[in-house]
Amino acid sequence: MKKLKDLEDLYQKIVLLRVDLNVPLKNGKVLDDTRIKKVIPTILHLLNNNAKIVIITHIGRPKGKKIDDLSLKPICQYLKNELSSEIRLITKDVKNLNKEDLFQSSAEKIALLENIRFYPEEESDDIEFAKKLASLGDVYVNEAFSCSHRAHTSVSMITRFIKSYGGLHLINEINALNQITHDIKRPISCIIGGSKISTKIDVITNLASKYNNIIIVGAMANNFIKFNGHNIGKSFFEINSDYIIKDIYDKAKINQCKIFCPTDFSVGKSLKDTSKNKKINEIENDDLILDIGLETIASVKNIINNSKTILWNGPAGYFENENFAIGSYEIAKEISNKTNDNKLFSVIGGGDTVAVLNKLNLISKISFVSTAGGAFLEYLEGKKLPGIKSLN
Ligand code: 3PG
Repeated sequence: MKKLKDLEDLYQKIVLLRVDLNVPLKNGKVLDDTRIKKVIPTILHLLNNNAKIVIITHIGRPKGKKIDDLSLKPICQYLKNELSSEIRLITKDVKNLNKEDLFQSSAEKIALLENIRFYPEEESDDIEFAKKLASLGDVYVNEAFSCSHRAHTSVSMITRFIKSYGGLHLINEINALNQITHDIKRPISCIIGGSKISTKIDVITNLASKYNNIIIVGAMANNFIKFNGHNIGKSFFEINSDYIIKDIYDKAKINQCKIFCPTDFSVGKSLKDTSKNKKINEIENDDLILDIGLETIASVKNIINNSKTILWNGPAGYFENENFAIGSYEIAKEISNKTNDNKLFSVIGGGDTVAVLNKLNLISKISFVSTAGGAFLEYLEGKKLPGIKSLN
């Protein structure tokens, strides 16, 4: 893959910079700026090398239609403040746009194309649309690992018509994920939480052949607890997941990977309740399992302490209620302490897990934090991501 950091001559070149600024917005305000902050170094790198930048991103899923609430106006304003620079939001139809329309004076350095998913051609990996987009720049940079699992025009097809490079952050992301999939320092453990087992089955199955331990937490664990014959009260579980779990246990056995499930829990009668610690055989029919219990937290910490590499995706409980956030917080603290002491290489990904780290201000103490959700999981499953494949 050609890399942006090796590209020397950027003087006055127009760089089409595909980023993923798909951030949560509420009433025109950016609620989480992690993804914006991650692309600032790349923008500064390009500006320092005297390039002009056309930023391309999507936000939400407008399905090829213009939707005012999904305009990039608030993000444009946010970037202007962050970079103390003038940025023009280009709302003119890309199909009627020419290179000359992008910058109106030599002082203008950054332009932002309006939400690229306002065009139906974006999601269909359209050749003509790709040619048009490519004609607007001299160089293309993919700095959007988190949407590289989408075979979309501005992520994949465009690379056929313009010199294309992997961005600074995208390369870091791939290196970190390779480190936990190929160049592994053992023992390696994976903590998988969240709720839907069917969305993570391929990841768990793939990791079972490579990892020493897989720790199942969050609502995901309820499926395993139920499979093992215990009462889970009225807790969330996914129907028809038994055959998936059996397959995971079989694969883990063949590969000598240990599957660890919680042995006690923090339960409530509703999502707003306070918490009560209960052992696995004490769960009542009207209980909701909402976090891992104290004994389980101690066991998970022990596994973390005996690992050299950790991958974590998905919180341990319903952390939106602080009473059920202890499990996620304790895992986050243990991983960050060991990483900080250089005893662990840690990779953490997924929106909710990153939100836990943000709450505790621990992002900087993790070896690598992925801003990607779906792309992170698909890469770990061993799938070839269209956006990465096309750069190669
Ligand atoms: C993400 O937020 O994971 C990426 O921006 C991809 O978004 P999508 O799932 O709408 O394609």
